[in-house]
Amino acid sequence: MTLAHAVCGETQRALRAASLIGRYDANLPRYTSYPTAAQFMPDVGPGEWEEWLAVVPADEAASLYVHIPFCRTLCWYCACNTRAVNRSATIRSYIDLLIEEARLTQAALGRRQRVARLHLGGGTPNMVATDDLDRLFAGLREAFAFVSEPEIAAELDPSSLTRTWVRAAARNGLSRASLGVQDLSPRVQQAVNRFEPFETVSRAADWLSAADVGSLNLDLMYGLPLQTRDDLLTTLDQVTTLRPARIALFGYAHVPWLKPHQKLINEADLPGPAERFAQSQAAAAYLTDAGYQAVGLDHFALPEDSLAIAARSGRLHRNFQGYTTDDAATLIGLGASSIGRTTTGYAQNHTIERDWRAAVTEGRLPVARGLALTQDDRRRAEVIERLMCDFSVSLAEMERSQGPAPDRFSAALTRLSPLVADGLVVCENDRVSVTDLGRPFVRLICAAFDTSLAPATGRHGRMI
Ligand SMILES: C[S@@+](CC[C@H](N)C(=O)[O-])C[C@H]1O[C@@H](n2cnc3c(N)ncnc32)[C@H](O)[C@@H]1O
Ligand code: SF4
Repeated sequence: MTLAHAVCGETQRALRAASLIGRYDANLPRYTSYPTAAQFMPDVGPGEWEEWLAVVPADEAASLYVHIPFCRTLCWYCACNTRAVNRSATIRSYIDLLIEEARLTQAALGRRQRVARLHLGGGTPNMVATDDLDRLFAGLREAFAFVSEPEIAAELDPSSLTRTWVRAAARNGLSRASLGVQDLSPRVQQAVNRFEPFETVSRAADWLSAADVGSLNLDLMYGLPLQTRDDLLTTLDQVTTLRPARIALFGYAHVPWLKPHQKLINEADLPGPAERFAQSQAAAAYLTDAGYQAVGLDHFALPEDSLAIAARSGRLHRNFQGYTTDDAATLIGLGASSIGRTTTGYAQNHTIERDWRAAVTEGRLPVARGLALTQDDRRRAEVIERLMCDFSVSLAEMERSQGPAPDRFSAALTRLSPLVADGLVVCENDRVSVTDLGRPFVRLICAAFDTSLAPATGRHGRMI
């Protein structure tokens, strides 16, 4: 095939995909879990979570997620559970309660559970003062038995990060950092109330590397107000000079009915579905040319990075933090809005910080809602996770490993027929394979297997 033919084929594929977006673009879950958090109900509370923790196997290494819901200022696009805070006493008392929640969890587990991974998410974990950070790590190490070289990751805001904080976190074992970048164009930054020149990002990357925090991820976004393809490519030109091991490229989820501060964004400034698609494709092509491997729907990693290796070997996973190499069966969430999981089900803490504080202060596990998994949920969860991670799943293999389930997926296969006709997915010999054309539509393909979707459709962000 000549280069001209290849380019022509690419262009035709892009045009075809653009025409399909009009038909299929919808508000859909990101499938960081199945069932999704929108399905969690208040019939799961502290009592259920306590029972589920009590039967976690003693020798299992669990993962910890700690949520820090504070930022210096609010970015208008932000969909995270966070708020702007400038009183250090507020953060200090939150850390005291996190340590208390860790103790309550230890009591429910009946032991210091082994822990191999810790993820500090937010919000902005680097809002925590260094002495509070030391106290938090000491409290966690008292409640849990960390393995000798745990993977410790944190989401960091370059603008409010300091060299002193990086050193304190490294002293406590930080091994991975994720820096929020989004887009470096001053016009876009003005439109979302986030001001961060490239120098701020490169300075943060230098501090992390000097402190031996080995692995760097950068978060970028497309579909932001006033953002153009040129803005995105210029941002990529700058950030790829830092050669981060991973880059996440998120499509802006505009959900003002859930996040009222997003109303500060002028909707007329938002790129439409076709432009969003063109932006995501342009960024993906740029990153592939720059030597990055596409991982799942929205991540890119250097081929030698563990995420890229996991993707190549079918061992990629998806959890509430997105794509991950973490295969732990038990995830313990601490802090307001955190979600935990055991093989029995999901449990989410109170989202409103005041309610979370009240529960922990009264000595209760602060679980507000959740969901006990049925056998059917587990099977669908496995299919959806493999589709999101590998873009392909064998329903026959699934039956072999989980026991036969004739007809379980027949309704899903029927729902997929129009997508098969449009060339987005192929269903052959019990294998469902997403085509190259269908990759951007993988959430729609997963939705065919989701029996709980209909009432919750309006709660999610746009697919593309
Ligand atoms: C906890 S924040 C990042 C850490 C840090 N607070 C910062 O902003 O630099 C996690 C990431 O979620 C992504 N994000 C936030 N709101 C989003 C939205 N509405 N749609 C898509 N991605 C979003 C951004 O890329 C952001 O960097
Ligand atoms: S993107 Fe980061 S800094 Fe901005 S509001 Fe969200 S969590 Fe805070």
